[in-house]
Amino acid sequence: RLLAAGGAAGVGAVSAVGLESARRAGAFRPDPDADRWAHGRDTVAFHGPRQAGVGTTPQAFASFVGLDLHAGATRDTVRRLLTVLSDDAAALTQGRAPLGDQEPWLAQNPSRLTVTFGFGPRVLALVAGDLRPDWLRPLPRFSVDRLEDRWSGGDLLLQICAEDRLTVSHAQRMLFKDARSTTAVRWIQEGFRHTVGSTASGGSMRNLFGQVDGTVNPAPGTEEFERVVYGRGGCPAWVEDGTALVLRRIAMDLDTWDEVDTPAREDSVGRRLTDGAPLTGSSEHEEPDFAAKGPLGFPVIAGYAHIRRSRTGNPPEQIHRRAYNYDVPGAGVPGAAGDVGLLFASYQADVDRQFVPIQQRLDELDMLNTWTTPVGSAVFAVPPGCTEGGFVGDVLFD
Ligand code: HEM
Repeated sequence: RLLAAGGAAGVGAVSAVGLESARRAGAFRPDPDADRWAHGRDTVAFHGPRQAGVGTTPQAFASFVGLDLHAGATRDTVRRLLTVLSDDAAALTQGRAPLGDQEPWLAQNPSRLTVTFGFGPRVLALVAGDLRPDWLRPLPRFSVDRLEDRWSGGDLLLQICAEDRLTVSHAQRMLFKDARSTTAVRWIQEGFRHTVGSTASGGSMRNLFGQVDGTVNPAPGTEEFERVVYGRGGCPAWVEDGTALVLRRIAMDLDTWDEVDTPAREDSVGRRLTDGAPLTGSSEHEEPDFAAKGPLGFPVIAGYAHIRRSRTGNPPEQIHRRAYNYDVPGAGVPGAAGDVGLLFASYQADVDRQFVPIQQRLDELDMLNTWTTPVGSAVFAVPPGCTEGGFVGDVLFD
């Protein structure tokens, strides 16, 4: 935290020249009690062979932004856009104000900010047509889908995540400033998880059904994660250190969920609501026993339970989930639950071989479908990261 010294005149003067020159001019002095703010100063590296925001422990707040290129955009337009947005992201994620930031104070607390770029079909065709994977297209139609254009598709994705909502908002604005001459915003989808400090760190989150969500998920740093997300020793990724993002906006009907009692709610997923333990076990991370039968001879975890239907016995079909809750204020009628749901984000090396078979099974049978409706859908190719001085996707231009 930096304290402004010198009153309104000093603050006005620095807004034009930026934080660095303001520091040099002595307009700020460091807070002697800065340690209290250590959390806000936490950073996640921007540069590296892979983009941050995929294997990064999910931050509390996310904004997924779909941009569309203006008509007539060329490969050069995309190169210039990615260059400037990468520069902005490189600065912001490290707590530095990017060029032209008129609120540099808002860049001071990066709060583990990550900005992850994804390419839709149009951008990838312009950048590297020959590398375009087959799966980079709209997903097949599922019978549960009620998709709306306003939440679907897009040429370029910005996934902006941080532990502080203010940080996300400022980063988004700075990126928009530099993107507006060549793109238009197609959609913005904001999501949230538990705030840091509100639950034990590193645990699974809860979604708005109250369920523990994210239990069975490949952990970053493991061989399983490498295989699932980056195709090492499994479905090969479309490009080394690249991956794919599927983003589904799934509305959750809390009003009809309210009509269901706890045993029926637990039966629909196959896990307990109190702690996320499988109905055959006593703790969250215990393996479910899908063969176990109850006193009447029926399976304890029902045939239609979400974890039975989404589980795959086929390791190459796994996915890495990194979901966020959404709750749009003011939507709906007073007293009703409104527009709430899950921004279901999954990373995998190959969408057709991993995500699609799971979603197909859930489309055929999944008790959770009673209360959930996919209303948005988008697929992006996530390019590798870049080194200092480079830009995200630059390896594809060479
Ligand atoms: C597991 C909720 C949509 C794939 C779970 C679990 C919950 C849950 C509570 C159990 C805990 C866990 O392992 O995370 C939901 C809700 C959804 C939703 C509320 C929609 C609003 C989806 C979709 C997919 C999916 C669209 C993929 C197409 C999975 C997988 C697991 C899982 C792979 C782990 C299964 C295993 O135990 O191996 N989900 N889910 N879910 N879900 Fe979902």
